[in-house]
Amino acid sequence: MISDKMLSALNEQVREELYSAYLYQSMSAFCDFKGLKGIAHWMDMQTKEEMIHARKFYDYILETSGMAKLDTIKAPPHKFGTPLEIFQEALKHEEYITKRIYDLVDLATELKDHATFNMLQWFVNEQVEEEATASEMIDKLNLIGDHPGAMFQFDKELMTRPAPVPPVAQ
Ligand code: FEO
Repeated sequence: MISDKMLSALNEQVREELYSAYLYQSMSAFCDFKGLKGIAHWMDMQTKEEMIHARKFYDYILETSGMAKLDTIKAPPHKFGTPLEIFQEALKHEEYITKRIYDLVDLATELKDHATFNMLQWFVNEQVEEEATASEMIDKLNLIGDHPGAMFQFDKELMTRPAPVPPVAQ
């Protein structure tokens, strides 16, 4: 049985993951409006990935006989900057999420909650990937600079991002 303290922290993380989805969907809407269809698509796929993260926490809460409590999700920003600034904001957000995951790992250790500690290892690895992906986009956009042809090509490439596949239940 999961402790009340851990249950509350996991419920809070469901909300953080849903906010992540909300944030990326808003970035997608902004990019679509600006005619950056490839980045809009990439952000759409990222939104789906965040929904998978939220679901993974939610399912774990139900599995451990806890009560999933869904709470208010704040509104994301609606205006963003250049593609470079958008991915910089995405990286900043992922670093924040990583910090939250690490805090959950610390809490699981403190509470000797081995099952939750084990479940969280998937997210520790996932966050390495999330930050690396955003950093890679920033590197590319720094190289592109103000070159419209290169930006056009970058946007086209991002259109090929496939839909994320939910992880196999552990
Ligand atoms: Fe769910 Fe992008 O971290």
